[in-house]
This record gives sequence, C-alpha cells and structure tokens, in this order.
Amino acid sequence: MCGIIGYTGNDNAKEILLDGLSALEYRGYDSAGMSLFKNNDIITVKTQGRVSELSKKASAQFSEKTFCGIGHTRWATHGKPSETNAHPHGTENVMIVHNGIIENYKELKNELGNVNFYSDTDTEVVAKIIDKEYRKTRDPIKSIINTHRLLKGSYALGIIFADIPDTVFALKKDSPLLIGTGKNGMFIASDISAFLKYTDRYIRLSDGDTAMITKECVCVFAADGNKKTISEERSVKNADVTGKGNFNHFMLKEIFDEPDAMRNTFGSLTKDFLPDFSATIPDDSFFEDIGTIHIVACGTALHAGLQGKYFIEKLAKIPVTTETAGEFRYSDPILRENDLAIIISQSGETADSLAALRMLNKKHIRTLSVVNTPGSTIAEESGKVVFTLAGQEIAVASTKAYNVQCEVMLFLALKTALVKKTLTSAEVKNILHSFSRVFTDSIPTILSNNTPFRKAAEILSGCKNAFFIGRGYDNYSGQEASLKLKEISYIHSEAYAAGELKHGTISLIEEGTPVISIATDKKFYEKMRSNIEEVKSRGAVVISVCCENAQIIKEISDCVITVPNGTFAENPFTTATAIQLLAYYTALEMNRDIDKPRNLAKSVTVE
Ligand code: AGP
Repeated sequence: MCGIIGYTGNDNAKEILLDGLSALEYRGYDSAGMSLFKNNDIITVKTQGRVSELSKKASAQFSEKTFCGIGHTRWATHGKPSETNAHPHGTENVMIVHNGIIENYKELKNELGNVNFYSDTDTEVVAKIIDKEYRKTRDPIKSIINTHRLLKGSYALGIIFADIPDTVFALKKDSPLLIGTGKNGMFIASDISAFLKYTDRYIRLSDGDTAMITKECVCVFAADGNKKTISEERSVKNADVTGKGNFNHFMLKEIFDEPDAMRNTFGSLTKDFLPDFSATIPDDSFFEDIGTIHIVACGTALHAGLQGKYFIEKLAKIPVTTETAGEFRYSDPILRENDLAIIISQSGETADSLAALRMLNKKHIRTLSVVNTPGSTIAEESGKVVFTLAGQEIAVASTKAYNVQCEVMLFLALKTALVKKTLTSAEVKNILHSFSRVFTDSIPTILSNNTPFRKAAEILSGCKNAFFIGRGYDNYSGQEASLKLKEISYIHSEAYAAGELKHGTISLIEEGTPVISIATDKKFYEKMRSNIEEVKSRGAVVISVCCENAQIIKEISDCVITVPNGTFAENPFTTATAIQLLAYYTALEMNRDIDKPRNLAKSVTVE
C-alpha cells in the first residue's frame, strides 16, 4: 500500500528518497513520485510504474546535490493509477504526500469553491486546504492543525512549504508515521524500513500530532497546538534483511525460510517441549477462566486463525469465533467480561485489524496480538503481544508468516489446555515432539523436490477456474490454498468443505475443471475418496495434496503431491508449505509478477 519517505539533512536527498522508496516497494504500489527543494524552488517528478523509472526521471532533473524532499509510492484509492494522480500533490506554495483516505474529501472540495483540481485524488484537496490556511495564517503549524480539524478519515502526511526550505512537516492520524533521527539528517516514513539503512533511532507520532523537522531538530505539537516532549526509541529490526539470496523470487526464498522461522519461534515460546509465554505473559491467570475466544484478522492471518480455532477447540475445549476484522469492527459481537480476543497480523498495521483491536480495547476485553513486526501499532496497542519470529516478509503473498502464526496458535491452545487441565504435561510434550518434526524433517523434505509441484502447475496453468476441497483442518488449509493461488496466478478459485460442494457448486464442475483435494487427516480419507469420485465422474481433473499413507486417495487422483505422514499438529503446517509451492510454480509457469501481484499491497493500511 502507499509509502511515505521524507528527508532533510547533509546527504543527497534525492538518493535517500529513492532508496527509501525502493525499500517501500514490497508494500505494493502503482506509481511513485517525489518533490525536492532546488534553488529556492520545489521541483516534482512523478511516474506511473516502478521506482526504477522514477529514478531515471529524477537523475535528469536533479544533477546537483539536493538536501530536502518528500517521496511517495501510491496504491490507487481515489482515481486510477496515472502520473497525474501520483503523489506529491499541491500548489506552488506547498507539496504533500499522503497515506490513508480522506472520507469527507468531496464536501471539502465543494467548500473550497472556485478552485481548479488537476487530479482525482483526495490528497490534492488536502494540499489545497493547507495552502489556503497557510496563506491566511503564514504559520505552517497553525495551517496544518487547522486542516487536521477539517479532515475525516485516516492520514499520514509529509508536507513541504516552498518558502520554508529544508524543512519537512508531518501530520498523523490513524495511519503509521515515524520520524527517523540520524547523525546526518532527519527522516519521516510510513514504515521504518524506509530509513533503517541510515538510522535505527526513531520517534513515534501519536494520532493528531503535527511535527516540524529540520536537519538538526524535531518539534512535535499536539492537536491543541501545544509543544510536546518527545522520546526516542531504537529499532530492533535489522536493515540488511531484504536480499533474495540465490532465489529468483522473495516468495520462494520465504517459503524456504520456513524451517528456520518455525524453529526460532519454537525456541522463543517453548521450554522443554512445553509452551512458555512467560516473557510476555508472566502470569498464568491470563489463560484461566476464558469464556469465548474471538479471533480477528484479515486474509491469510484469518486463515491462521481458523487453524487456531481448530487447535483451541480440540485441545483446550474453549469455544472460538473467527471473524474478518473488516466485519468485526462494525458488528455488534456478543462479548463477555471473561472473553479473550486474539488479533493476528503479520504487519501489525492492517487498518481493519487495528480498528477491531481499538474497539475491543474500548470495551475492556482482554486482547492478545500475534504479530510479526515489533514496534507496529497493533503490537503497541494490544493488552498482550506474542511475536512470531518469521523475520521480515517481503513478497506480497504471505507464506512463512502464515506457518508461524499457526504455530503460535498451536502453542496458545496447548498453554490454555495445560492451565485448564484438559491435557497433561506428558500429552502436551508428545504433541510438541511431533510438531517439531515439521521444521526438522518434514518441511525440508517437501522443499527438496519441486517435481510434483511443477507437474501440478502444468495442469493448473492452463485453467481459468479451480476448486479446493477438504475436511476439518484440511478445509481451512484449502481456504488458504485458494487465496494463495488467486493472488499470485490470477486463476479464479474457490475453497469448499468437501461435503458442501454438492449443495450447489458442483454444477460448475465440467470436463477438465481442476479440483485440488487436500486429504491429510486420516479420519477423512474414505469420505474424501467419495468426494473425489463425485467430481471425477463429472469430468474434474483431481490434484491431491495428501499424506504418503493416503493410498486410497492417491490411486484415484490424476496428480499427487505428497507430504510426510503426520498428526493434526503437523499436517496443517506441511500442507501450507505444499500449497504455497503449488501456487508459486503455477504463477511461475504463467509468468506472473510473483512478488508484486497486480492490485495488491503487502500492508493494507486503508479500510
Ligand atoms: C496474504 O498472502 C495476503 N497478502 C493478505 O491476505 C494478508 O495476509 C492480509 O492483508 C493481512 O495482513 P496482516 O497479516 O499484515 O494483517
């Protein structure tokens, strides 16, 4: 989604902005631009497409060293992707970059009256209001605060004024924005990775804060105009984690990272093969007397929540609801005092998940977040937080983060089961012993041979539609498999509980329709075989993802991808790796832009 970088200092601002924009590319975007001070003027360059294009344009414009500017990668919300709609936007007096959505931009546009607009964006409206306020007050802070009072929605803004050289201003509300403080200059960014190469020190802005940043100092003002005291934090993130190594795509590299990511998470959250959350949740009473657990998340993280529901209900015998955050935040859920809400998010910045968390906090419900990004807003605002140790995920398609999210959900289920005494320590140890085989043996085995995935990808790549079927946790794996295939190959697919297909959807099965059956739970082999027979007799080509011992499934399938035999504490994990590779090789066969699929963003910071 959109990304912001700004810089003022002694180094070459153009290069720093381009570096920052490249670091933000993983978030997904369709156009890019930047404005820099040059000889007492602001010069703006924009492009539809990649930062590499912007770099060529910028080199032509800025041959001399520049010291201050703002840059942006845009993921279109208002107005199609185009050079005109790309940020920065503004007037001869002021230029701004914006993340988020201005919900009342139409009303504000009308109120501006006789003003010409060149773009379709909500951002241009904000720029023109700041310009109007600045002409009235001649005070940059007042003009920004006055503008903030008029805006509805979410926004992080980077602002420069033509007559205040080498100074960057910022405003934040409900959209992430950090100020980086370096030895050779200061930064603003929507994501720390944009300036981490230059400094690991940063200041976090609160909602409603306006900041004024020069190369020597940072001043922050609250919404009432009063100056605030600020405190600096230090990032624990490592700047040098973004390489692809020998892999052609980040997605494949990140799938290969899974054994390490799972081992690291295992190391941090277990002790002697028992779950151990004492670092963040020292008191076991947190896990006692839980009424209902509400799992709230989006996309892949929601699918990890579904696997979590399976684990918690099976092991701890606590009822679990799972809901997509975009619906949960506006619903009227039945929440009781002793309920626990679990928010799952790789980025920790997903707008809907954050809004759901805030709604739960307001209602004083116990909240626990499972987050991959330290310092993210969800991590900061949750009652308790447990970190997954997947390391940074760059590919838009979430892979290793999913497996470690499921892992943490298994540990939470086991911990609650121990506290509730629905399992003994010996039983929990047994489960964790079998789980640990996943990262020591099973996933490495799957990764060692890509032939079955390439064969299945050949079948899928010629198709327009596909169906996934499974039962129990295999049904949940199917939901994730379908999302993965859609997002990177653009093949339309749907996932169904295998018994549900015949209640309508089976009418879509015709000669050659691919059906991917996921059958790793032994107790369902016979039922799954019958469901496979049903679709085969209507012409389906069946690709089965199943355990080695699933002979009755293998013998009737047209193409087979096997995963090592395992228990309920292993199969969802090995299946995840397999279905990720299936989606990857299908997209590869179709020559898709695997790491940056069209229309998608890594971090979805708008509703
Ligand atoms: C998965 O491949 C996605 N790109 C997407 O569904 C993602 O999981 C979702 O947007 C939630 O993101 P989060 O985990 O950062 O909150």
